[in-house]
Parts: sequence; structure tokens; C-alpha cells
Amino acid sequence: MPETILTNNALAERIETSDEWIVERTGIRQRHIASVLETTNSMGAMAARNALQMAGVRAEDVDMVIVATCTPDKTFPSSACHIQQELGIPPCPAFDVQAACSGFIYGLSIIDQFIRTKMAKRVLLIGSEVMSRVVNWQDRRTCVLFGDGAGAILLEASSTPGILNTHISADGRHKDILYLDNQANATIEMQGNSVFKLAVNMLDTIANQILVANNLTIHDLDWLVPHQANIRIIQAMAEKLGLPMERVVVTLREHGNTSSASIPLALDFAIRQGKIKPGQRLLLEAFGGGLTWGTALIQY
Ligand code: ACO
Repeated sequence: MPETILTNNALAERIETSDEWIVERTGIRQRHIASVLETTNSMGAMAARNALQMAGVRAEDVDMVIVATCTPDKTFPSSACHIQQELGIPPCPAFDVQAACSGFIYGLSIIDQFIRTKMAKRVLLIGSEVMSRVVNWQDRRTCVLFGDGAGAILLEASSTPGILNTHISADGRHKDILYLDNQANATIEMQGNSVFKLAVNMLDTIANQILVANNLTIHDLDWLVPHQANIRIIQAMAEKLGLPMERVVVTLREHGNTSSASIPLALDFAIRQGKIKPGQRLLLEAFGGGLTWGTALIQY
């Protein structure tokens, strides 16, 4: 995470909003904001180094790099190529995945196919975003929601699969309710209420779909690790699923919505805090501009 923290109260000094409104409508209390020296590439490289260190794997043993981001430093070369060079990872497939806030789950799904078909053995998956550079800081309907950060995981082929299953999908009919044009100084445009309703109406359905497809029920899950967009969306999903909030990882209070970085950041937080323990079963879930969405069942 970038060092600089922007609290709701500090935001309220700049635009017409309040800590009470933001907390009540979103659950967010603060977000981290990248300095001029911090970028998607630099934060992503740092997260990737930490992931390798935690996994005890050397950079030269990685054979694929995927970065999920909708705010790359450059359209090309990809952030994945940059981070590959920065870490000294030998020539191997390296590319970015862009599926807005669902990018991390899309990346997991791609990697699952590569590992199952024995095309890759050790893959770095990084989610990194500088959302603060693509929000309109005068638009109180959007700027209060987003933050910057990066998270990374290392996936390794094994005889007992960690990724039990992934489901990804999209519906381009909703492309106009949440978008970021590819032009200089463009900012996120969002019909917040439409996104909110679609998310609340679909998330429990896609969670149940992946559980049923794997002969599991909600009682077989230890943790739900949702995309961190809005506490009301997360609570509505948990309630519909019959899952107590004690089994849901929530980091948006401190981080805001960091798009593709939100799930790996939440995983990092919950694992380092000792909440998520080896052997536990997790359901990851995300939705984002497109609309895109995805779920992943993980045995940690
Ligand atoms: N501070 C104070 N008042 C505000 C603020 C603010 N920051 N923002 C909006 N308001 C006002 C509005 O102007 C409106 O006032 P009015 O009634 O006088 O017109 C009132 O609050 C209600 O506004 P709504 O937009 O209806 O508020 P809502 O309850 O829908 O909450 C929110 C807005 C938080 C954006 C919600 O709709 C939401 O979370 N939507 C989902 C967003 C999301 O998850 N996006 C995913 C993006 S991820 C990606 O792919 C990049």
C-alpha cells in the first residue's frame, strides 16, 4: 500500500461530503493514495517480491507472470513485462489481464487452465491499481470510493489442487453504466445505483452456482473473500447466502475499492492476521465494469 492515507474527513475538506455519509453508504473510512513515484508497476513489483519471499520461491523459478490491472503505466509494454524485468524473472509468458474489478479472478481462472494442462508450474498473479489517477476528484459520487494498492500471490502446480474451480463471465449489455475512456485525463464514469442493484441481485446467485457445481454448500466454506466495493453490497450478499459476517473478510474500511488489487490485498491481510489458515476453504468473488464477474473456490 502507498504510505499516504486520505481519510474521509480530509476528503470532506475538499469536496461537499462527510465522514458520516461515506461510512453509512459505503463502509469506507480511508484509502491509500499513490505518490508521484508510486505506480502500478512499482507497487506491483513490491507485492510480487513479497509474495515470492512468503512462498520461499526464487524469481528464476517463476514461469509465468500475469498482472490484473485497469490502470497500467503503459498500454504496452505490459505491467507484467515490466515486473518480470524488475524481478529478474527469465523469459516466459508475461501479460496483463483487463477485466476491471474482476481482473484478479479472471487471472486465477487463466492460470488454473495453464497449470492443469501442465503448461506452467509457478505463476505470479499480481493485482495492482492506481485508481486515484483515474477518478474525478471533483465528483463526490465516485472519488470517495476508490484507493490505490497492489497484492500478489504465487500459484504452484501440486498433486492436491489449491484452485478447486473458477467461473468467469461478462455481460456487455451493461458496458455503459461503468466505464473509463482510453483518453488523456479521462475519469471513471459510473451510474452507482445501477451497479449497486446489479451486484446485489447477482452475487449470491453466482456464489451458489459455483458451490452447487462442486457439490458444496455454504456450510462447507470457511471464508468469503469478496471484492471490496461497498459494505452494503457485501452484507446483502452474505445475508442472502446465510453466511455470518464473521466469516467474511472485509478490508474496505481501510483500503476503499482498489479494483483488481482488492482481493489479493484482502487475502494478504487475512492470512498475515492468522484468520485464514492452511486447509481452509475460501470463496472469492468479484464484479466490475463490463459488467464482468467471477468466482473462485480455493483450498488454501
Ligand atoms: N457525499 C455526500 N453526498 C453524496 C455523495 C457523497 N460522497 N455522493 C452522492 N451523494 C448524494 C447524491 O448527490 C444524492 O443526493 P440527492 O438525493 O440530493 O440527489 C444522494 O447522496 C444519494 O445518492 P445515490 O447515488 O443515490 O447514493 P447511493 O445510496 O446509491 O450510494 C454509491 C452511492 C455509494 C456510489 C452506491 O451506489 C454504490 O456503492 N454503488 C456501487 C458502486 C460500485 O460498487 N462500483 C464498482 C466499481 S468497480 C470497477 O469495476 C471499477
